[in-house]
Amino acid sequence: MARHLITSALPYINGIKHLGNMVGSMLPADVYARYLRQRDHDVLYICATDEHGTPAELAAKESGLPVDAFCAEQHDAQKAVYDGFGLRFDYFGRSSSPQNVELTQHFARKLHENGFIEERAIRQVYSNADGRFLPDRYIVGTCPHCGYDKARGDQCENCTRVLDPTDLIDARSAISGSSDLEVRETKHLFLLQSKLQHEVEAFIDATGDEWPQLASSIARKWLTEGLHDRAITRDLDWGVPVPSDVWPDLAADGKVFYVWFDAPIEYIGATKEWSDLDPASRDWKSWWYEGEGAENVRYTEFMAKDNVPFHSVMFPATQLGTREPWKKVDYLKAFNWLTYYGGKFSTSQKRGVFTDAALELLPADYWRYFLVANAPESDDSSFSWEHFSATVNKDLADTLGNFVNRVLSFSRKRFGDDVPAGKEAGEAEQKLGEDIATLLAEYESHMDALQFRKAAAALRALWSAGNSYLEEKAPWLEIKTDPEAAALTLRTAMNLIHLYAVVSEPFIPASAAAMRSAFALTDDTATWITPAEARSLSAVPAGTAFTVPPVLFAKITDEDLESYKERFGGEE
Ligand code: MF3
Ligand code: ZN
Repeated sequence: MARHLITSALPYINGIKHLGNMVGSMLPADVYARYLRQRDHDVLYICATDEHGTPAELAAKESGLPVDAFCAEQHDAQKAVYDGFGLRFDYFGRSSSPQNVELTQHFARKLHENGFIEERAIRQVYSNADGRFLPDRYIVGTCPHCGYDKARGDQCENCTRVLDPTDLIDARSAISGSSDLEVRETKHLFLLQSKLQHEVEAFIDATGDEWPQLASSIARKWLTEGLHDRAITRDLDWGVPVPSDVWPDLAADGKVFYVWFDAPIEYIGATKEWSDLDPASRDWKSWWYEGEGAENVRYTEFMAKDNVPFHSVMFPATQLGTREPWKKVDYLKAFNWLTYYGGKFSTSQKRGVFTDAALELLPADYWRYFLVANAPESDDSSFSWEHFSATVNKDLADTLGNFVNRVLSFSRKRFGDDVPAGKEAGEAEQKLGEDIATLLAEYESHMDALQFRKAAAALRALWSAGNSYLEEKAPWLEIKTDPEAAALTLRTAMNLIHLYAVVSEPFIPASAAAMRSAFALTDDTATWITPAEARSLSAVPAGTAFTVPPVLFAKITDEDLESYKERFGGEE
């Protein structure tokens, strides 16, 4: 038994996420966490909402709510959707928690004590009408390159060029629209990452080569370009305040830490939120502090590729610079993009599927299975309604669901409400057992390697093996000449259903529970079945009472498909 700490990139608070966001972070993390729990490891899966920063302020402003109320509301809304998807976090926290404020300030203090934070004066745009400094994206104007008149101070959305606010023609405040702007000098804290370059390199040398190539190559690229000192404070009302005992001037100026400084610290903060709820039995430091238990923790992070620089280089630099033994990432699982018909999911253009809408349409397991089986692991992958419905119909409805229902209803009809005994296992069962053991071992090795597409393929192969066995034995024919042989076939098939319930749980937990509860068994089916145990296909003995669950997966009809495409947009 090992101790596994798992985190998935913290979803930003500004709105409900789309499917692409979930498949690159929370969903595979949940699949992995469920698998490890079943294998009897000690697992702590932590996530939280990422609540600070300019986009949170802007979204709150748009909603008409004060930013703290907006965040509280959005946190609950996101949490409800994740519950609906069966994401079993051990804790889902908030980066605005007091725990995170305290830890973020602690990190800053330690970095300061060790000479890794410096105050620097920079020139920034100040809006007289708004009475505040404007972050880059609060300034809009005309792009000097393409003439687009709604370019933002950090980037032109039209020609994608990166801008400096002072490049903009006719610059004005995005808050008030006022063009009464001036450039003023103001002080900010800078994290001297350049001084930590070698240590981060050593960390990546020691750890990063084991990561998927997508993650390690991004980390290497950043290191090759050299780590730059970065401003870690901002002029915002909402955020972790700069501690006034260390930096009285900046604190008096109302500076807060940059959202990317406090967000990863919230992985620790959320663990402390969890621990503080029951300090007698939970010890956050044993997960995060080496010497207090974290030395024997394996820490796996899940995220999309745009998050890799922050997690592979910047957060480790922050941790190293404290000179405290914080647990650093062991394995960084990064994902490419899920596209919508090859294009971007877009909130503003209403293209793509948002997680709340997905759940209104179909149960979570349909989405979980499709998304993880097609996770953008080695490349971007594309969502289409055609692909989605074909996968659901073939893999879930035909291969798995139909097998379960066919076997259980047929057996009940012919042999009643208990698993029939029938003959001793013969050659076909022996061979099936061998095949199942081999496929299960394959499935395990892909899960252990966090290869989700391959794992899904192995799971699908396990389901198919049951179908092949059933077709070959044809109990609906056997019953006519040799009822005892038919009973053996059905008993064996029911053992497959039980096995499927256990091993499919990480992907389709609700359906797995339905399959499991078909059998009146007292054993703990939440526990894994090893390939060696699976070989004998005998976990469900003759005489076990069973019921026939309702149809596990309904097929998506052509009419459904058309209506989805119409509602959500299909091919452009
Ligand atoms: N909210 C960020 C995003 O959506 C991810 C933050 S991950 C953390 O890209 F580590 F910083 F928390
Ligand atoms: Zn432009």
